Amino acid sequence: MWAMGENRLDPCILVIFGATGDLARRKLFPALYNLYLEGRLPERFGVVGIGRRLASEAAFRDEVCRAVKEFSRKVKIGVCGDFLESFYYQQFDLGEAAGFLRLKEFLANMDRIRETRGNRIFYLAVAPEHFGPIVDQLAASRMVAEGGGWLRIAIEKPFGHDLASARELNQRLARVFAEEEIYRIDHYLGKEMIQNLMVIRFANSLFEPLWNNRHIDNIQISINESQGVGTRGRYYEQAGALRDMFPNHLMQLVALVAMEPPVDLRTKSIRDEKVKVIRALQGLTQDAVARDVVRGQYTGGNVDGEAVRGYREEEGVSASSRTETFVAMRLFINNFRWAGVPFYLRTGKRMPERSAAVVIQFRALPGTLYFKEFGALEPNLLVLKIQPEEGVFLQFNAKELGPGGRIVPVKMNYCQNCDYPEDSPEAYERLFFDLIRGDQSIFPRWDEIEQTWAFVQPVLDAWTAAREATGEGEVALPIYPAGTWGPREACDLLEREGRNWWLVL
Ligand code: BG6
Repeated sequence: MWAMGENRLDPCILVIFGATGDLARRKLFPALYNLYLEGRLPERFGVVGIGRRLASEAAFRDEVCRAVKEFSRKVKIGVCGDFLESFYYQQFDLGEAAGFLRLKEFLANMDRIRETRGNRIFYLAVAPEHFGPIVDQLAASRMVAEGGGWLRIAIEKPFGHDLASARELNQRLARVFAEEEIYRIDHYLGKEMIQNLMVIRFANSLFEPLWNNRHIDNIQISINESQGVGTRGRYYEQAGALRDMFPNHLMQLVALVAMEPPVDLRTKSIRDEKVKVIRALQGLTQDAVARDVVRGQYTGGNVDGEAVRGYREEEGVSASSRTETFVAMRLFINNFRWAGVPFYLRTGKRMPERSAAVVIQFRALPGTLYFKEFGALEPNLLVLKIQPEEGVFLQFNAKELGPGGRIVPVKMNYCQNCDYPEDSPEAYERLFFDLIRGDQSIFPRWDEIEQTWAFVQPVLDAWTAAREATGEGEVALPIYPAGTWGPREACDLLEREGRNWWLVL
């Protein structure tokens, strides 16, 4: 699928709304650059950046080049070369209908010069309030109706603020674009190890037979971040950790870990299995939310030996904010394979380190033989390491060297990016590559998004109800010092069942 030299990609123009923003600079341009170096962009290709901040194309190209030098995993010598020649710039305000008409003409002209045949990708790397208006303007300017080639629209998260607004956004999109033209970005799905998840599960006779409630005790999925909210305080105040990470990255991980094998590798088959397992999630009642969902907010502390401020002191954050920066949750999947197996999910900002992993803890053997003599043994663990290390770690028991040796856990570690980290593609490289070649497999379909929001919505509702019940808006919000693994309550969630979070460093 990723084979080199197999470049039969259709010519096209990529229009990036929000081209002068942070995401474009840090992720989009460097990813395009790496694809360019590897010969994975169409031969006839152009990028049109839309922004307000920069006044000229020259300034835009300079900025693209600076971004590449700063953030690309590849560039070591400061050469942007021919790459920049594909970059164009249009300055206009997104509310300006005339700007869209100018863009339409500009694209038609580019088609003539670059022979891009009217094929267009509209990439929305803007704040969510612009999604709907941009889509409406694309329709009103008849840019969608009159391009003459194929069309795709890529939308960054957040896809809605809750279930109702996600539905509304989808309806607005669906009035203009067909589902086959909509690419909802969840950048986690472009990560190498998440791509690898299905392969590890379904291409190994070693794991798949054990992948069920007869052999697995519990599954833990963690996305830990050492960063705080940085400059995104204003967005984060409206979102919080639950909206920011659950209806997207974490639930997509649950789906990939828990889904049944698809009948084949076609997009529809994979998406069908993901939706099926998301629909099997046990719904959360208000009591279940109180019992099984923990949130927290970081206060000042120490990360990596550096003193850092608390969430309420961050830029753009209210001094009395009740926004959660950490969530841990226990959930169940009500189907034959998973009934009774707890899935523990957690994510938080300002944790001691940046790491994301899936830990599969296998059941203990019957308490005979070695167990009698040596007491409880360490469980078998299979760890799928997503970042920063990408790989697989297997823990099993063996005898210590020498006579009368104890039984100790031994660890087998496969790391695919340890030796040459720069060889591991960034998520956005894969996302762009698939977007350009028109493969939707790693872009969630609408029903996946709808079902994940439907699962998360009762948590939002329960929190709102709790806030309203207190009258003053004060609800228990556990705190944790920056540089720790979240509030105590997150450990209680597992310890009350005799389990613990596995730290896989
Ligand atoms: C984004 C969230 O989707 O994912 C951020 O909005 C979060 O808050 C980020 O920091 C994490 O992504 P990654 O790739 O750095 O793990």
